[in-house]
Amino acid sequence: MTHPGATAFPVCELVTLPVGEVVTVTPPGLAPISVFHTSDGLYAIDDTCTHQDASLADGWVEGCTVECPLHEACFDLRTGVPSGPPAKIAVRTHDVSIVDGTVLLHLDQKGDAR
Ligand code: FES
Repeated sequence: MTHPGATAFPVCELVTLPVGEVVTVTPPGLAPISVFHTSDGLYAIDDTCTHQDASLADGWVEGCTVECPLHEACFDLRTGVPSGPPAKIAVRTHDVSIVDGTVLLHLDQKGDAR
């Protein structure tokens, strides 16, 4: 779901992001955001783990979960919530859509559409 007033930030063409792939972008003034293409659809979360400084795009995806490559905390791609330690804080999630074959992130002024 998108929100009124959100800014659409183009990520890539959908054909360049097949199922199983992830792409990381850094919208101006914001932290890196990764867009995961899972068999359930596209999900966007802040790329940096909330435990320490690891890129979740380098992690392992299973279903709608990504496992951090550093200390193996797992985050739900739909909610950003970690399933257990060492991470305790959720990563932010962002809305994604596809318009004319382009993957778009929908961001408000704080970079968080939630
Ligand atoms: S940096 Fe991700 S779990 Fe520690």
